[in-house]
Amino acid sequence: MQLSKSLLLLATQSSIALAQSNSTNSTTDVPYLPLSTDDYFSFILDEVLALSNGGGAATGEVLRAAAKIEAGNYESFYSEFKFLADSLHDVAASVNATKFPVSARQAYFRAASYYRSSVFFFTANQSDPRLFDVWDQGRADFDQAIALADPKGERVTLKGPGFDIPVIFFKSPKASKCNAPVPTILIGSGYDAPQEDSYHALGREILERGWNFVTYEGPGQSTVRREQGLGFIPNWWDVVTPVVDYLETRPEVDTKRIALGGLSFGGILAPLAASREHRLAAVIAIDGLANLQQTAMASFPASAVKLFESGNQTAFDAYMNAVRASPAAPTLVKWFIGQGLWSFATDSPYDWMKQLGDVKLDADILSNVTCPVFVGKGESDVTAGGQEQEVADWLGSKGYLYEFKTALGAGVHCQLGAEPQLAQVTMDWVAEVFEAVA
Ligand SMILES: *[C@@H]1O[C@H](CO)[C@@H](O)[C@H](O)[C@H]1NC(C)=O
Ligand SMILES: *[C@@H]1O[C@H](CO)[C@@H](O)[C@H](O)[C@H]1NC(C)=O
Ligand SMILES: *[C@@H]1O[C@H](CO)[C@@H](O)[C@H](O)[C@H]1NC(C)=O
Ligand SMILES: *[C@@H]1O[C@H](CO)[C@@H](O)[C@H](O)[C@H]1NC(C)=O
Ligand SMILES: *[C@@H]1O[C@H](CO)[C@@H](O)[C@H](O)[C@H]1NC(C)=O
Ligand SMILES: *[C@@H]1O[C@H](CO)[C@@H](O)[C@H](O)[C@H]1NC(C)=O
Repeated sequence: MQLSKSLLLLATQSSIALAQSNSTNSTTDVPYLPLSTDDYFSFILDEVLALSNGGGAATGEVLRAAAKIEAGNYESFYSEFKFLADSLHDVAASVNATKFPVSARQAYFRAASYYRSSVFFFTANQSDPRLFDVWDQGRADFDQAIALADPKGERVTLKGPGFDIPVIFFKSPKASKCNAPVPTILIGSGYDAPQEDSYHALGREILERGWNFVTYEGPGQSTVRREQGLGFIPNWWDVVTPVVDYLETRPEVDTKRIALGGLSFGGILAPLAASREHRLAAVIAIDGLANLQQTAMASFPASAVKLFESGNQTAFDAYMNAVRASPAAPTLVKWFIGQGLWSFATDSPYDWMKQLGDVKLDADILSNVTCPVFVGKGESDVTAGGQEQEVADWLGSKGYLYEFKTALGAGVHCQLGAEPQLAQVTMDWVAEVFEAVA
């Protein structure tokens, strides 16, 4: 099947479209130097590289893997990262962690990231045991690392309606020192990233500011999908409310100052949760997204849109399955469909696309949000197709739209690679919101 070029834009991440055009000469329009000739590999490698800013990777290690990985080859992507993961795991395990806790912790964190990254593309084949086994190795190493971290991370499992919610709680050193409650930032990831990544993206930045840092996952996300087999749900407040209930039981949590952040697809999930969960003091949507089904449809070829709208599930499924199987299809497109089937726990592309449209924001939903909402936008990020502005408009005086600049290296989706800027802008904003809380 010949794919329309417009399908390239179907991505959840978008620097790709820009990276492809006019690249050689421009220093401002190209968000970053490609790390692979496969655009989507390049983007994901950038995502792994960005973990370096928060101790989740090391630049030399990732750039070495990037140099060896064969463009578009999932097995090659796996084996280079698995090699790094195993090697760093061995380093960590050989260090006497009692005597050298910092060295052991750092190596365990990086091993954990590389194990997780190695299986990133394997959601395309859910019967591949590595999708689970190697993931578990990453989780075990992450747990070794957070046990050696200061503050330590505590895993807690909460009960939601029909599912369990895995949470990781990092108690602010300030709360420990003053023995008083402090503000808390709760972060959720999106369509594909695991909660562990958030520790490196924002967690250390948040802890440095003297606040508690907490992450959670719900149905459709990395651990819940693996261990409970559940896909995304539109009633996302059912995931967040039990977490807020739990936070209210913790003496170190200032319950009037809890903010909920969402990364990527989480930029939909967080405001969606806040539309029914009113105990939050602020919401941070990184970036502002309203409806991923709309973004996808806008980049589908007209024939695919027509098939979807015809409601003929058999025909739409056959079309998308052919796209997935086509060697000519860009990695990005194949991944987006495969990841969608995995994270919505369905075999049917039609069912996935329907469900994707149910997890959305609109003016009515956002009219139920009672707290201020930060709406992020990457200057070069076409993922949202302008939805950031739409979300901010629906929020009216509750919304604060901020554009991160490409010239400063912060223009890509979720400001990947510019985490210190992301933290500075969002955390200073939320600090002012907290200050205004009576
Ligand atoms: C690419 O270059 C052409 C011709 O110089 C220009 O018209 C176009 O706007 C550029 N596109 C981007 C994305 O920079
Ligand atoms: C780069 O820019 C120069 C000067 O504008 C131009 O002569 C050259 O053709 C450009 N190269 C490419 C690959 O676009
Ligand atoms: C690890 O280091 C601690 C503290 O120096 C020491 O007491 C312990 O014996 C060491 N363990 C091993 C297995 O060498
Ligand atoms: C999926 O993984 C299983 C188990 O490794 C393997 O037997 C099967 O061939 C794979 N399927 C595809 C389409 O690659
Ligand atoms: C749906 O599409 C399939 C395959 O193209 C076709 O055979 C079938 O007749 C269509 N069903 C309807 C109700 O149009
Ligand atoms: C707004 O909240 C009320 C109360 O929870 C709920 O009944 C209503 O359906 C919500 N509106 C939307 C559009 O979600």
